[in-house]
Amino acid sequence: MSANIVIGTQWGDEGKGKVIYLLASRADVVVRAQGGNNAGHTVANGGETYKLHLIPSGILYKDTLCLIGAGVVLDPKDILGEIHDLSKRGISFDHLRIDPRAHIIMPWHIALDGLSEQFRGNKDIGTTHRGIGPTYMDKYERSGLRFYDLVHPEIFREKALATGKLRNAIITKVFGGEAIDLDKVIEEYIGYGQELKKYMADVSVLTYEADKAGKTILFEGAQATLLDIDFGTYPYVTSSHPLSAGVCTGTGVGPMMIDGVYGVAKAYTTRVGKGPFPTELNDADGDYIREKGGEFGTITGRPRRTGWFDSVIVRHAVRVNGLSCLCINKLDTLAGLSALKVCVAYKRPDGETIRDFPPTLEGLEGCEPVYEEFPGFTDDISSCRTFEELPQICRDYIARLEELCECPVKIIGVGPSREQIIER
Ligand code: IMP
Repeated sequence: MSANIVIGTQWGDEGKGKVIYLLASRADVVVRAQGGNNAGHTVANGGETYKLHLIPSGILYKDTLCLIGAGVVLDPKDILGEIHDLSKRGISFDHLRIDPRAHIIMPWHIALDGLSEQFRGNKDIGTTHRGIGPTYMDKYERSGLRFYDLVHPEIFREKALATGKLRNAIITKVFGGEAIDLDKVIEEYIGYGQELKKYMADVSVLTYEADKAGKTILFEGAQATLLDIDFGTYPYVTSSHPLSAGVCTGTGVGPMMIDGVYGVAKAYTTRVGKGPFPTELNDADGDYIREKGGEFGTITGRPRRTGWFDSVIVRHAVRVNGLSCLCINKLDTLAGLSALKVCVAYKRPDGETIRDFPPTLEGLEGCEPVYEEFPGFTDDISSCRTFEELPQICRDYIARLEELCECPVKIIGVGPSREQIIER
């Protein structure tokens, strides 16, 4: 019937989980195409809260086929933990499938993630320490281990020993770290492979066949546009392509399959980890947004940096993802602030005003946000279910975001639960 992608438009944590969960309720197939367990989707439904890292949100619907594509990096220990925890809560994994091409996160990747961050000192990226970067490094260096290898003990033993020895040399000789007990780790991971092997299937073929059979497919993005390895704030980015285009390479499908791309943004901006953030607030308004919006990391618990909505970055996301529409989450969090600001452009140190997000950190340096101000609102909007029920100030705010971002707003989030949503 249709194939849609959900993408983050800012620095992640835009509430994609909620939009994905809503759209997954209408999908036959849900696909994760990139990233790993650095992602954290929180989904609240019927009084229950689920925190998902790698498992596609469609798992919460018992008949939905849930696919993990070739572009994902898979931590077998972590995913098994997730499967065991959710199974105890009555969730079935009969419909989970993992592509044999997906790369495996090994303990040496996690160790190297931590050691490289330490080595960078105060220039650290602020990664999630989940081994994401080092696993993608091995993939592109062509020395990675894939899910197919993991489930075949003889192949895995040989390949893991070869790459493990080299990583151990880097850990000990370059960083002065502690060597990993390769034999122990390899046997442990072979055990994980045996537990996971029942899920192995060619996700490219499954997705293609599902599309041909007229099924509804949802591609679930993780991380976000400004964390993209090319189009994000490099080097303060993740190591995959969280853009709409990443879905095609990460699943093994062509772009003509895609019917729509939903971009999710918060009504303000947040960021975890280091890197530029032009509209960041280091004042009482920023603290208010953090506390009211519960802006603490799902994975690491780190307090998130907070700031005003930045239409320069969301317009960038509209362009690089070819967004069909925007979903603006957490509008309710802004209630109670005396005034709201939206960044409409940046003023460069040479005085020039720019509206396109600069491609480099150097180009971004010294850029000051140019703000448009809106009156604040105090109304509790959490029970509004139509656009017309929203106070005029909120409607004006959304209408202006549409103009500035050059994209229609189709979904508005007004509270944490699945029902607290306005669809237009
Ligand atoms: P890594 O993905 O662990 O290598 O971390 C690289 C950067 O991406 C860090 O700033 C992380 O905080 C950020 N990051 C990775 N995954 C997410 C996510 O799902 N939400 C928000 N930030 C993320």
